[in-house]
Amino acid sequence: MRIKVWDLPTRLFHWLLFLAVAAALWTGWVGGSWIDWHARLGLLVLGLLVFRIIWGFLGSTYARFAQFAPTPGRVLAYLRGRWRGEGHNPLGALSVFALLGVLTWQAVSGLFSNDDIAFKAPLASLVSSDTSTWLSGLHRQGLWIILGLVALHLAAIAVYALRGKNLVKPMLVGWKEADDLNIKSAKGGKLWALLLALALAVGTVWVANGGLLPPPPPPPPAPAW
Ligand code: HEM
Ligand code: HEM
Repeated sequence: MRIKVWDLPTRLFHWLLFLAVAAALWTGWVGGSWIDWHARLGLLVLGLLVFRIIWGFLGSTYARFAQFAPTPGRVLAYLRGRWRGEGHNPLGALSVFALLGVLTWQAVSGLFSNDDIAFKAPLASLVSSDTSTWLSGLHRQGLWIILGLVALHLAAIAVYALRGKNLVKPMLVGWKEADDLNIKSAKGGKLWALLLALALAVGTVWVANGGLLPPPPPPPPAPAW
């Protein structure tokens, strides 16, 4: 029986997140003149995360956080081989929350960072220069945490593939074959919820990009020689 697991917004979110995070890691690492692109990509990641967090409450069945919250009871049942369900399993859910949390921290810390050369992130003027430098240091270290979590994510998917379970196809096409008749297709995730999540994501990116800050003072006039 074919059941719907991942709705289109969740799938688009995932693959855009993958592309944007990969590009942000690369441009951040290279730095220099790529830093402007890095900031744009970081803002895109922030927008995607805000969208996903709202979709975690308003999206369709398996996209909802309550559906896959890794409570101790569920994790134990999974480890004992007694968990039955669809969507993210309780261990996978731990990694999903870790990825979403660390990426949110990374995007927010980036907003207050500077590159010690010419670039100041849009909200850096809201904190002292010492705080901005401290946050830039933490932001740089985020690279290794993100690489570690992504490596774990890909390793888990590879282990499932070796055991004959293809998790990637449902994340691409949205559906999978299920033998258990108790498992139901995803429901919910209405158009109004999608529009609300998109509007809040765009609004947050606008504010994060300094939309509410006063415009910078004009540069001093060039000296008259
Ligand atoms: C920067 C790289 C990546 C990041 C940050 C990332 C992040 C995530 C996140 C946050 C989720 C949870 C989806 C949700 O419920 O919204 C997820 C799920 C998933 N990701 Fe990725 N991902 C990355 C790369 C990849 C790649 C390259 C693949 C494929 C080879 C992949 C395959 C999957 C699959 C199959 C799931 C669903 C797992 C399940 O069935 O529980 N991811 N990923
Ligand atoms: C989740 C999204 C983001 C990721 C994955 C990310 C990743 C990175 C990485 C890997 C570096 C370089 C680390 C190193 O040189 O060792 C970096 C540096 C930097 N990022 Fe991000 N970043 C993100 C979001 C942002 C945002 C939104 C901004 C600002 C709008 C930003 C501003 C900066 C700045 C200014 C630096 C230079 C820091 C320094 O040289 O001390 N980042 N980022």
